[in-house]
Parts: sequence; C-alpha cells; structure tokens
Amino acid sequence: MGQKNQSLRAGKVLYIVGAGGFGRETLDAVLAGLEATPGDSDLCFVDDGHPGEVIRGLDVIGSGAVLAGKDFVIAIANPDVRRRLANAMLSGGSVARTIVHPGAVVGPETYLGDGTVLLALSHISSSVRAGNHVQVNYNATVGHDCVLEDYVTVLPGANVAGGVTLGEGSTIGSGAIVLPGLNVGRGAMVGAGAVVTRNVPAGAIVKGVPAR
Ligand SMILES: CC(C)(COP(=O)(O)OP(=O)(O)OC[C@H]1O[C@@H](n2cnc3c(N)ncnc32)[C@H](O)[C@@H]1OP(=O)(O)O)[C@@H](O)C(=O)NCCC(=O)NCCS
Repeated sequence: MGQKNQSLRAGKVLYIVGAGGFGRETLDAVLAGLEATPGDSDLCFVDDGHPGEVIRGLDVIGSGAVLAGKDFVIAIANPDVRRRLANAMLSGGSVARTIVHPGAVVGPETYLGDGTVLLALSHISSSVRAGNHVQVNYNATVGHDCVLEDYVTVLPGANVAGGVTLGEGSTIGSGAIVLPGLNVGRGAMVGAGAVVTRNVPAGAIVKGVPAR
C-alpha cells in the first residue's frame, strides 16, 4: 500500500490537488485520519482556478507554487485530468500519498496503489488489487479479487461484484452494479444506476438495465 494519511508526520506537507467537491471530501478523509491517529500536518489545496483563496480554512495555491519533494493526492473525479495532474506532480518531484478514511473497510490481502483515495463507508473486499490514483467513493463496494487499474473511479453507492476488472480510467456511476467476473474496458463509463451484465468495450458509455 502507498503511504496512508494515518501516518502523516508533524510538519509534513500534503497538497490536495483540486479544491472542488471531491477535493473537500478528500480533505474530510484526511482530517478524519488525523483524528484517528493524532498528528500534525500542513495541508493546502492546489488549484489554478482559485489561487489565493481560502477554502475550508486551507490556503489554495497555484500549481506554480508547489514545492518539490512534498506529498500530494489528486482529488479530481475526471480520470484524464487526474492522470495529467498526477504526471505533472510526479515529474515535479512530488510523492503520491494514499488516503484511506478510517471509516472505510479494506479486506485482507488487498493492495492499494499510490495516490488512491477511499472515502468513508467504502468497502473494498479481500484480495483486491487497486492501482494508482484510484477513487472509491462513499458507500461504494468492490468485491473480492477485483482488479482496479490506475485512475479508476467508483462513484457513490456503486456495487462492483467479485472478480471484476475495471480498466484504466474507467468510471462506474453512482448506484451502478457490475456483475461478477466482468471486464469494463479502459476509459469506459457506466451510467448511474446501470446493471452491467456483459463486458463493456474500451471507451464505451453504457447505461440502463441491463446496460447497453
Ligand atoms: C450515462 C451518462 C454518462 C450519460 O451522459 P450523457 O452522454 O451526457 O447523457 P445525456 O445526459 O445527454 O442523456 C442522454 C440520454 O440518456 C439518458 N440517461 C442519462 N443518464 C442515464 C442513466 N444513468 N441511466 C439511464 N438513462 C440515462 C437521458 O435521459 C437521455 O435520454 P433521452 O435521450 O431519452 O432524453 C450519465 O448520464 C451518467 O449516468 N453519469 C454518471 C454520473 C454519476 O454517477 N455521477 C455521480 C457523481 S457523485
């Protein structure tokens, strides 16, 4: 597993990249982790749309003000934007930190990659392999033996059954269900509330019950 928020050390900087809705939700997860294991950390948002502002009591800086060698998490739902910003931060010498809300459940033999974010009440079962910069939102469940490739997004309340592979940059919409053992291709989008009963080709958008 990448470094977890519970291990933040005094004086250590964490950049939360993106000060929008998911950025603030990621901040909630970071702060909950700090409460679970008291510590101290300098937190700030990085967002070129809001430099100089204060959001939720944190300073917002532009990307040009980022210092090398500090930790970061990309807190933006769009997988393509997340990939671009993660690569920019990494090439600038920043270090991706994994954020797990203390109210998330992570099963045994499950691996979480660097920069991955699990929000409260997400449940990632056993023997799951989640890549880098994956996001699993509130109340979403991921079954045993799933593979979530880099930049996957599982939106609130989605239910991914056991043995599913979610391709790089794919998104599972709110409340959607993916039946066991299926593959969702790279960059595909599963609509909110869909029930996926067949493999989804790369780049496809599917919706409805059954998903088409
Ligand atoms: C499926 C989805 C990607 C389609 O987006 P889109 O291509 O922009 O689609 P549109 O909004 O233009 O809608 C096109 C049609 O699909 C229908 N539609 C949209 N989303 C649908 C869904 N999830 N299930 C069933 N039908 C849906 C619309 O009603 C519309 O139907 P119409 O042509 O008969 O009027 C999107 O609607 C969606 O479900 N995204 C998931 C978002 C989510 O879960 N967000 C949570 C954030 S916390």
